[in-house]
Amino acid sequence: MAFTVEDNPMKTNMKQKYDGNTTAMEVLEGRDLSGKVIIITGANAGIGFETAKSFALHGAHVILACRNTSRADEAVRQILKEWHKAKVEAIALDLASLQSVWEFAETFKSKNLGLHVLVCNAAVFGLPWQLTEDGLETTFQVNHLGHFYLIQLLKDVLCRSAPARIVTVSSESHRFTDIKENSGKLDFNLLSPSKKDYWAMLAYNRSKLCNILMSNELNRRLSPHGVISNALHPGNLIYSSIHHNWWLYTLLFTLARPFTKSLQQGAATTVYCAVAAELEGLGGMYFNNCCRCLPSQQAQNGTDAAALWDLSEKLIQERIGRQGK
Ligand SMILES: NC(=O)c1ccc[n+]([C@@H]2O[C@H](COP(=O)([O-])OP(=O)(O)OC[C@H]3O[C@@H](n4cnc5c(N)ncnc54)[C@H](OP(=O)(O)O)[C@@H]3O)[C@@H](O)[C@H]2O)c1
Repeated sequence: MAFTVEDNPMKTNMKQKYDGNTTAMEVLEGRDLSGKVIIITGANAGIGFETAKSFALHGAHVILACRNTSRADEAVRQILKEWHKAKVEAIALDLASLQSVWEFAETFKSKNLGLHVLVCNAAVFGLPWQLTEDGLETTFQVNHLGHFYLIQLLKDVLCRSAPARIVTVSSESHRFTDIKENSGKLDFNLLSPSKKDYWAMLAYNRSKLCNILMSNELNRRLSPHGVISNALHPGNLIYSSIHHNWWLYTLLFTLARPFTKSLQQGAATTVYCAVAAELEGLGGMYFNNCCRCLPSQQAQNGTDAAALWDLSEKLIQERIGRQGK
């Protein structure tokens, strides 16, 4: 039986085995993940790469879903250099293109593998305003809608492979935003704003709020089928490549670097949500430092989660309908 956040027995007495210094490799210590198939988006760099490597070094069949194939191939080579028997491969996925997401899912399904963990990790941050080929603001599409579509296309495989897990990498920055208009309705113009209303930081924060809302709604819909979904914050100002779109962010991340988590530590909570035995059947939660905590009030709002789901379905339907799929 699957639990939701409301009847979750871990709500008040989560056992704290790990802390902010724990690494992904420590979370996986002693685990044999042979036979598990795991997809990670944005796995060629940063936290995603450390997550992929940690799973692969523990025997999982890991698929790196990356937009840049040469960087993805290099990431595969690096993992194989650490363990030549690692089962790791890359498949092209550009989350800024619904067509590419569809092609990724087709390629993956043609392999006839199960899917035990899907990690929605990829993100962009601090981008100048630009529309995707699907006519949506890029941060919104890459960080939220592309992942939403990917899950729709893979949910049958996840359900067939149950027990399975979806893990979505969000951020504490989800707290500093709103995605509703004054009337209290979800506002598409806040999610995918026009150029004049765009502020990169706000776009990122909103997409990270969408990540938690999506994860909660996914858990509500899929947990009865044995697929649980949790979201998480990996850590603050972790030095990855996420800052590279603006020199000021680069400066900030560089100054903070001596005091922030390493990439291995940043990958720990993702890995924890993917494999922790104590989370079997438990979803709809939000984690930080491998420990459950409450996200913002808005992130816990079930009505908003359902509205975001409906809007996301509509945006995809309008676009793939146009492509004749
Ligand atoms: N670093 C932090 O302090 C921090 C804090 C809170 C939350 N997070 C979250 O942690 C996750 C990982 O971030 P990170 O810090 O590891 O950043 P990163 O080093 O920039 O990695 C982001 C990954 O996403 C990929 N990506 C970007 N656009 C894509 C697209 N259109 N299609 C497919 N993949 C795409 C990137 O590929 P390319 O190499 O091709 O660009 C890269 O592999 C993100 O969800 C982020 O929001 C990070």
